[in-house]
Amino acid sequence: MPFITLEGIDGSGKSTVISLLKERLLEKGLDFIVIREPGGTLIGERIRSLLLDPNYSLSPIEEVYLYATSRAVLVREVILPALKNGSLVISERYIDSSLAYQGYGKGVPLKLIYEINRPAIMGLYPELTILLDIDPLICLERLKDKKKDRIELEGLTLQRNVRHGYLKLAEFYKERYLLLDATRKPEEIVSEILKELKRVIR
Ligand code: TYD
Repeated sequence: MPFITLEGIDGSGKSTVISLLKERLLEKGLDFIVIREPGGTLIGERIRSLLLDPNYSLSPIEEVYLYATSRAVLVREVILPALKNGSLVISERYIDSSLAYQGYGKGVPLKLIYEINRPAIMGLYPELTILLDIDPLICLERLKDKKKDRIELEGLTLQRNVRHGYLKLAEFYKERYLLLDATRKPEEIVSEILKELKRVIR
């Protein structure tokens, strides 16, 4: 079964889409797991709280290492064993988040991000990446009442650069990207995803 990732800026609606997608996949009786980054393992969740705690400050390159460490543990402990077992694996965020946020968003050279992540992901790239694309201004409105984590507190300019980065990645990796308008209804987004899944599962 394939490995699939879901990407998008903060507030693009990934969590809503994932929970609806889960329901639909359960109805279909598919064998699948859903995970999130950073996190998804005991160590990963500890790293997640370090990364997102507004009381700490980290440089962009320090972030790259921490996200890559969380990713390495997730790939080794969860993703590879699940794929080996024949499960479909869906991850909310993966290496493209590091390229978009730490690379396009914060100026870490993309080459360096690939080099640090290469041993972490052990050659595992997703077969399909769904990008929920949306104007950050709309997200700002959506996230208005949410308690913000450290990255979300960095503001609109970061989210704009991250969005631009994702669109560049979608252009570069055309063969694995599915670009979806995140202002559409979650039900519609999920049926597009299911259509595409049918194609990659075959
Ligand atoms: P996320 O799980 O998207 O947030 P929420 O719990 O609010 O839905 O939070 C992860 C944050 O980490 C998000 O702002 C994006 C950022 N991030 C990076 O900057 N680089 C990465 O490699 C990853 C995986 C996430």
